[in-house]
Amino acid sequence: MKITRRHLLAGLAASGAGLAMPAVFTGHFSAYGRATNKLAIPDVMTGTMRQGRRVFDLEAKQGRTQFFAGKSTPTFGYNGTYLGPVLRVKDGDKVTFNVQNNLPETITTHWHGLHLPAFADGGPHQKIKPSQTWSPAFEIKQKAATFWYHPHQMSKTGEHVYKGLAGLIIVDDDEVGSLSLPSDYGVDDIPLIVQDRKFTRDGQLQYISAMPERMAGVKGNIILVNGTVNPVLTIKRQRTRFRFLNGSNSRVYNFGFDDGRSFLQIATDGSLLEAPVRRQRVRLAPGERAEILVDFEANSGAVLMSYPDRSAATGRGSGAMMRMMGMDGNNQTLRIMELRAGKLEASNRQLPQRLSQVPNWRPAQANRTRRFDLQGMGMMGGAMRGGMMNMWRINGRSMKLSRIDEIVKLGDIEIWEISNSSSMLHPFHVHDIQFRILTRNGRPVQAHERGLKDTVVVDPGETVRVIAKFEDYADPNIPYMYHCHNLEHEDTGMMGQFTVVA
Ligand code: C2O
Ligand code: CU
Ligand code: CU
Repeated sequence: MKITRRHLLAGLAASGAGLAMPAVFTGHFSAYGRATNKLAIPDVMTGTMRQGRRVFDLEAKQGRTQFFAGKSTPTFGYNGTYLGPVLRVKDGDKVTFNVQNNLPETITTHWHGLHLPAFADGGPHQKIKPSQTWSPAFEIKQKAATFWYHPHQMSKTGEHVYKGLAGLIIVDDDEVGSLSLPSDYGVDDIPLIVQDRKFTRDGQLQYISAMPERMAGVKGNIILVNGTVNPVLTIKRQRTRFRFLNGSNSRVYNFGFDDGRSFLQIATDGSLLEAPVRRQRVRLAPGERAEILVDFEANSGAVLMSYPDRSAATGRGSGAMMRMMGMDGNNQTLRIMELRAGKLEASNRQLPQRLSQVPNWRPAQANRTRRFDLQGMGMMGGAMRGGMMNMWRINGRSMKLSRIDEIVKLGDIEIWEISNSSSMLHPFHVHDIQFRILTRNGRPVQAHERGLKDTVVVDPGETVRVIAKFEDYADPNIPYMYHCHNLEHEDTGMMGQFTVVA
């Protein structure tokens, strides 16, 4: 059933949810000055070799970050005050991640997109209590791509990520090393963690301010790239690679350049594409990644923008609902980052025609098909009786830590058919595996979606079929998660658990 304004207002009244909130800053950057800032580039950590293992030390802690001149914002970060270092590893590395929790509350740390044993996954069962250290050890078995890490504490993921707990993981392999792609980190290989935030007038991060936000997801009017407000990047080489992560809680971006230039998409969430694909826009929902190559001419820059998303433009889905609530939807045109080019060093203009060999499981190989229906509220009354945890459901159920929803046999190839019968789009994410998208509404997917993925957007009314192999790790007791990566949806129940058993 569709969510109507009446239901939302009824819910608001019933919950008595925050009507008295601090004044939110809703103007443009001008209120905090239009000053541009040099884009921050996260530090890279390659770990320390100890007895054949690559060991990384992370510390989650509180701090204060100066996003705006003269304003100090309390934030969370890994090894810093906001976000965390890039963890750089190679396929085949044996790694240990020591995560020390120096926050006053319990967190977890999940390695989003990595194929690993369930005990090392960092989902809601692998809690790290204040002043404890969690040290998962496993082997990197991954194709070269850009992954990320973030907390996954039950019902708290949205808040923890919002405050700053997130970072990238870059995986290299022999294949990518043999290609002539831009790979000079911070020079022509640039990570872009894109997030939207709201600030109160005194510069505090403002998370959920009202009931509709808890349901639809939090959106902010200030864009941060790698934690930088109003960022500027000076381009140094003719060809630059950007690694995008949509690290926002609920906003969908439709990236493009203000001068209409095209670019080449070379990677999806979990692998390179088989060949570069020429595009003018890249649409990324929360949790998704993409890598692109952009060519620049000397003395001419461009502005990276986000254009209205089709879910808003068609008046359906999240756009329609958010407009109904008088909230910002994905229907905005946003300035993301300014790119300035001066004198440029030449890049190798020759691009490989083939980038990668991507696993390609055929539907005929599948051992079974599972169906997942993504659903909104039944009746508001029901949702209210069950509390926030009943807001969003998969197959009629909200997440329950004590219930295993699906049991997968080790070594099986499965098709997961995900349909969306709610009125908002949902980025559906699966732990442990990387999948290939087979079809959208029965039609084969376009070239730019033919790489490995761990998160896929399912628009309202859409059915998406994906295929994956569940291999290497079995554990009858510890589950992996599948969920919507709109973090407020995840936190209010749109999540389930599966185990892989031998
Ligand atoms: Cu990025 Cu289950 O998470
Ligand atoms: Cu994940
Ligand atoms: Cu969702």
